[in-house]
Amino acid sequence: MKAFPKAFYWGGATAANQVEGAYLEDGKGFSTSDVQPQGVFGDVVERIPGDSGLKDIAIDFYHRYPEDISLFAEMGFNCLRVSIAWTRIFPNGDDAAPNEAGLAFYDKLFDEMAKHNITPLVTLSHYEMPWALVKNYGGWGNRKVIGFFERYARTVFERYKGKVKLWLTFNEINMSLHAPMTGVGLPSDSSKAEIYQAIHHQLVASALAVKACHEIVPEGKIGNMLLGGLMYPLSCKPEDIFKTLQENRGWQFFGDVQARGAYPGYMLRYFRDNGFTLEVTDADRDALKSTVDFISFSYYMTGCVTADEALNQKARGNILNMVPNPHLESSEWGWQIDPLGLRTLLNVLWDRYQKPLFIVENGLGAKDKVEADGSINDDYRISYLNDHLVQAREAIEDGVELMGFTSWGPIDLVSASKAELSKRYGFIYVDRHDDGTGTLARSKKKSFDWYKEVIATNGASLKA
Ligand code: BG6
Repeated sequence: MKAFPKAFYWGGATAANQVEGAYLEDGKGFSTSDVQPQGVFGDVVERIPGDSGLKDIAIDFYHRYPEDISLFAEMGFNCLRVSIAWTRIFPNGDDAAPNEAGLAFYDKLFDEMAKHNITPLVTLSHYEMPWALVKNYGGWGNRKVIGFFERYARTVFERYKGKVKLWLTFNEINMSLHAPMTGVGLPSDSSKAEIYQAIHHQLVASALAVKACHEIVPEGKIGNMLLGGLMYPLSCKPEDIFKTLQENRGWQFFGDVQARGAYPGYMLRYFRDNGFTLEVTDADRDALKSTVDFISFSYYMTGCVTADEALNQKARGNILNMVPNPHLESSEWGWQIDPLGLRTLLNVLWDRYQKPLFIVENGLGAKDKVEADGSINDDYRISYLNDHLVQAREAIEDGVELMGFTSWGPIDLVSASKAELSKRYGFIYVDRHDDGTGTLARSKKKSFDWYKEVIATNGASLKA
């Protein structure tokens, strides 16, 4: 009988800037997320403190986390992915000492998880960095930021080493190519050469964090985090096949450096062909040799690639500008739904890296309707997650080593791409709306009991 491993991490995934709110409380500094009220692709707007944009309060997890964690525990979570807001620890990034109030908040959060036997999986940087590092240093374009990040990473490893054993470096590190402000703190009109130099600094910082984690938390494990943007050729034309290989390498490059410890030859050729001369020191090359223990990734959709410019129209709302696949349905936001693609991606990553894999984001963003009796019948979400989990189980049968599954947004949160609340992912509904109204009350959707059953049966209740 097909099954998930006995020691499988089941849970959900969140990010500080999408759930916590309290964006200036207890000494927290402004982050790049705070100045992008319209989402990760949005323009920078330096807002006045006190402005009530959606991320300022978000879902108020900063104050309501005990209630939320107890709901996660009720579903049977044994793992919860959260991120630490760098700006709660070093409000400006270059501060002389860490902010004790920020450190104390995450102590309380991890203690609360421990009470419920929930293992924390902690992202060091999820789509945000101190805004002061962008203003005063030019973001990741400046090599000094590597040192600031390493100090932040070492500070949290030291502080939480007894409480947190599973870590991730940068969320969707490959997104910097599409959203440079969000990823590396660079303006959207930066040149490709500037973006790749900043990415290089971030890859070095990621490797230094891996090294630090191995020193400070020897029994811990640290992974990278990729946006698993699997592409298919639109046709079997050799030109389409080759272009697809190149497009997939566009994101695989990050994993290749983080898992194999050096720049792959195809990337060096790309830099040469485009006249990009990156500053890469011997110390950088040495640092990159510290490779991750496991590969984590998000998976929402696949897309197609064509070498034919006439066919190259972009999918509606698709963040990676993929060409739509005529064989797939799309979500309300134009993200094409492809459960089998998850099995393919898991096999591709396993074949490439031979390191344990962790699905740290997957889920369906949809508009939910609250019925007169308060119930929310989100069968579409149940069917999406069921079908993806069935394919994950197939991949395990294929021989893939899979550590766990944390669905994205187990509780409704502020979406990343457009900073909306109407795009909901949760098993738990939050009464807050795009116009900022709502009581913030939590209620269970139909999917709550469904996921609880999946976890309780270790996947045996899934419908193949
Ligand atoms: C990933 C991010 O890109 O996808 C999350 O890591 C994000 O932060 C998630 O929320 C879903 O995207 P969106 O735009 O629907 O929130």
